Amino acid sequence: MIELSRKEDGTSDTEVFAKDVAHGLSQEPKSLPSRYFYDAAGSKLFQGIMALPEYYLTRCEFKVLTENREEMARQFAANGFFHLIDLGAGDAMKTKVLLRELSQQKSAFDYVPVDISGTAMSQLRDSLQQEMPSVDVQAVVGEYFPALEWLQDNKAARKVVLFLGSNIGNFKADESKRFLQRVCSNLSKADKLLMGIDLRKDPDVVLSAYNDASGVTAEFNLNLLRRINRELGGNFNVDQFQHYPIYNPHEGVMRSFLVSKEDQDVYIQSTGQTFHFDAWEAVHTENSHKYTLQQVYELGKACGFSVETVFQDKACRFADVLFTVD
Ligand SMILES: C[S@@+](CC[C@H](N)C(=O)[O-])C[C@H]1O[C@@H](n2cnc3c(N)ncnc32)[C@H](O)[C@@H]1O
Repeated sequence: MIELSRKEDGTSDTEVFAKDVAHGLSQEPKSLPSRYFYDAAGSKLFQGIMALPEYYLTRCEFKVLTENREEMARQFAANGFFHLIDLGAGDAMKTKVLLRELSQQKSAFDYVPVDISGTAMSQLRDSLQQEMPSVDVQAVVGEYFPALEWLQDNKAARKVVLFLGSNIGNFKADESKRFLQRVCSNLSKADKLLMGIDLRKDPDVVLSAYNDASGVTAEFNLNLLRRINRELGGNFNVDQFQHYPIYNPHEGVMRSFLVSKEDQDVYIQSTGQTFHFDAWEAVHTENSHKYTLQQVYELGKACGFSVETVFQDKACRFADVLFTVD
């Protein structure tokens, strides 16, 4: 397994986490970056979310990939050997549909899952060794861009990048553009990008996906405070915060918050700071954008990509869009 998570200036991951938390909680309004959801406990909770009846995204994308796997594998492998790079791979439950198909078609490829969660990557490497020993796997623990840059320097062959799970929706509008432009700048003409996109749909369906009846999503959101307590010596009383999701159908944005139920102070040892929360003050923790297909075409175009094929499930309103580099 390749570990890229250490910063070149010697700053540890914990120091960066502490800095980001201090910055977010000093802002008005307060926020915490969603990338810190995925420690070992958060990755496990997210697996629970993916199995929820309300969380349609995983089921829908699984269906799109399953129904179109032959065509996708054929298009990926059209020009010979390629690296299949899975950005934010997690447990790769859906990617395994494509890996099985590519193996069956005897395509020439290797699989490079990338994730900031070391636990997720070691579990994925072990599960692939068991389930698909013939697939050549090189797991990378690190951030998206250091990983893409490392790949650019170390893996010369053609690349097919996967960015599944509608992860693109977690960025702010300007961030998603910058993200895709940077992905594009690390790709060459013959490379491809397959991106999962959650399309606009019934607002009630969207809202319940992020506010399930059994409370797993609430636990996932609150785990961010537990992680600060565990890793940064925080003293959050997690029971005094509540998960609060809200969907804006006009913007197509699902936003999640942690709301302080009372006036309270929280001390975080690693930052040496005390943060005050007013009663009912909200901390923004996540965005999930829902797109129209037109927006997807325009976003791709603005970032140097053209749409090759839209694979979608019309009933689910979920699409996996295959882009080529302009
Ligand atoms: C919502 S999960 C999606 C997992 C999988 N791709 C899927 O579609 O089911 C997001 C994954 O991205 C990873 N992740 C989040 N931010 C990241 C970053 N900046 N660099 C690398 N991985 C990241 C998380 O650790 C998590 O495993």
